[in-house]
Amino acid sequence: MQFENPVDYQQLSLDHVEPVLPVRDVNQTIAYWREVLGFREQWTSSGEPSDIGAVSWGAVHVQFYSSKDFVEHAVRHYVWIKVRQLSDLYAMHQKNKAEIVTPLQPTGWGFSEYIVQDINGHHLIFTAPGTEIKDIPKQKVPVKIVERIPTFEEVCKLTESVNWKAPDPSSYNQNLESTVYAVVSENSETGEAIGCAFLLGDSKSIFYVKDVIVHPQWQHQQVGTKMMRAIEQWLDTNAPVGATAGLFSGEQLAPFYKQFKFVQACGMYRVIEHK
Ligand SMILES: CC(C)(COP(=O)(O)OP(=O)(O)OC[C@H]1O[C@@H](n2cnc3c(N)ncnc32)[C@H](O)[C@@H]1OP(=O)(O)O)[C@@H](O)C(=O)NCCC(=O)NCCS
Repeated sequence: MQFENPVDYQQLSLDHVEPVLPVRDVNQTIAYWREVLGFREQWTSSGEPSDIGAVSWGAVHVQFYSSKDFVEHAVRHYVWIKVRQLSDLYAMHQKNKAEIVTPLQPTGWGFSEYIVQDINGHHLIFTAPGTEIKDIPKQKVPVKIVERIPTFEEVCKLTESVNWKAPDPSSYNQNLESTVYAVVSENSETGEAIGCAFLLGDSKSIFYVKDVIVHPQWQHQQVGTKMMRAIEQWLDTNAPVGATAGLFSGEQLAPFYKQFKFVQACGMYRVIEHK
């Protein structure tokens, strides 16, 4: 039987790719990509003007070379760049007067994107999963954190709000048997659950943080932080010294969980399946 292994260090793999774009002038292009598009790092070949160079920002690296052919017969290239906080980048590019040839809009396949034309005519497609950039009106009503287990209906609503698969009643009930602590964020005016977080475990040596969710209308208002503070406090008070608490999350949430003393580590897991 073949297992799908997310990271198998024994296997041949391709690790990194960098587009190499023909440009009219490497130094001018780098200045544009830094000052208007916001790229942070650069390098250039020696010589004046440089004939090759590159910019980078986070995991995105793009190289340039000056090309006479390109000056005579410019051919547009396309670079697709996946980002987080797409709306913030869009606002920055608007402020910097980047030439936005297609405004920010949903793609129809679950992503949203906008297209910038750089000074060479190349098109840079900045994109993110649709839910990250949905124009969601934020709710500002006060929220209270209540120590209780969210109901099945509440969990279903919250998982749906972040496009997760809703649990079935039996998996919800199984979770409850292992739950040692849970919190619900309630809209103080209506009592509606707008967030939840579970702590599962054996109360002795192993704990697992599960289903930390804040409804998108209330995200980025410290609700998740307050729920995780409650879990942190519970662990500090009740978990025995030497016990381990773990969780799975996307890498982008590492800074969020670091606030509560969770650090990244190499892990392995298996999902049990019965034939
Ligand atoms: C992750 C989640 C629970 C955070 O809740 P929240 O109430 O929005 O978080 P907070 O307002 O307390 O965030 C504090 C900081 O953490 C970081 N952070 C929060 N959510 C983030 C995200 N999705 N990506 C990157 N950083 C994030 C930010 O630095 C944020 O500060 P900012 O709002 O000034 O940018 C919420 O975004 C969510 O429900 N996401 C979908 C479900 C999910 O992925 N849950 C985690 C599973 S392990």
